[in-house]
Amino acid sequence: MRGKEKILITGGAGFIGSHLADALIKEGHKVNVIDDLSTGSMENVAGLMDNENFSFTHGTIMDELTMEKLAEWADTIYHLAAAVGVKYVLDNPLKSMEVNVKGTEIVLELAARNRKKVLLASTSEVYGKNTSSVFTETADIVLGATKTTRWSYACAKALDEFLGLAYAREKALPVVIVRFFNTVGPRQTGRYGMVIPRFVSNALFDLPIPVHGDGKQTRSFTYVGDVVRGIMGLVNDPKAVGEVFNIGNPEGITIEDLAIKIKKMTGSRSDIVKIPYAQAYGEGFEDMRYRVPDISKIHELTGFAPRISLDEILERVIEFARASMLVGTGKK
Ligand SMILES: NC(=O)c1ccc[n+]([C@@H]2O[C@H](COP(=O)([O-])OP(=O)(O)OC[C@H]3O[C@@H](n4cnc5c(N)ncnc54)[C@H](O)[C@@H]3O)[C@@H](O)[C@H]2O)c1
Repeated sequence: MRGKEKILITGGAGFIGSHLADALIKEGHKVNVIDDLSTGSMENVAGLMDNENFSFTHGTIMDELTMEKLAEWADTIYHLAAAVGVKYVLDNPLKSMEVNVKGTEIVLELAARNRKKVLLASTSEVYGKNTSSVFTETADIVLGATKTTRWSYACAKALDEFLGLAYAREKALPVVIVRFFNTVGPRQTGRYGMVIPRFVSNALFDLPIPVHGDGKQTRSFTYVGDVVRGIMGLVNDPKAVGEVFNIGNPEGITIEDLAIKIKKMTGSRSDIVKIPYAQAYGEGFEDMRYRVPDISKIHELTGFAPRISLDEILERVIEFARASMLVGTGKK
């Protein structure tokens, strides 16, 4: 580990960002989070608010003056703030693109000007409609028509990657780019279309568990703690600079099997119902059959491999959801 650092996390009140903040504070670093709380929440960082090494800025990454002060203060920036979630992006297409393109440009520009290291959060969505069953970082990006709003998220994140790499080449910006595959764990909300929290919450309330399409699409899930360990390892490794890494779990499961597993583990009486994509997301929605990463690149550089199995992940998410339900009913 390098010495104690000053670390800025954009989107640090979100799901991944708040777990990252916990881990960095635990290592003795000073952490400043900027978040506009659009999808994140103060509850996620409530446990850190009294820590003298932690500060929170309620604001947007679009505010260049605030960002400039934060970028000057920081040694390293983890840029996680983004409009996230298929449903959120479909409901807020313009805001999503502004934050995901212009917001990232602001972060990169300030980091380059102040000579700060940046970790840029990208996504497995950038592989788009590529039909491979496993993705390596050099795989083609295959996106759909611009009339299909879904692709704007992938396109914006792909542009972020191009921008990050261009800043690295032309302005010597030390940037590390990571493509997160489905990352899951406590604090993730199901409100914006995230599959595991939605399935778990429906199962716990004995509500129908909605499986989109035929349910045979394969996805893989990585525990947030594993992802946080993986990205911290990359940021500490000088050889990661200027590179793009997949981070995820190479073991896949179909969405139908996931629904069956969650139903069983929660002892739920829910029905598992198949919903056509058009009904869930509107006409013309396109989805991928496979979304599983090849993680040999990060493994070879840092030794990273996920440690928490899907069953353990689900146990933790179910426990978290049960505890949140008790809070919601005032029984805790
Ligand atoms: N969770 C996943 O499976 C996954 C997969 C692929 C990529 N990612 C990427 O990882 C990052 C973190 O995602 P997450 O899952 O923690 O989602 P999240 O929604 O919990 O976190 C995003 C955070 O950014 C904040 N934010 C949004 N716009 C902002 C703005 N303009 N200024 C300041 N803060 C803003 C939100 O309030 C939220 O706290 C994102 O960049 C996302 O694209 C996540």
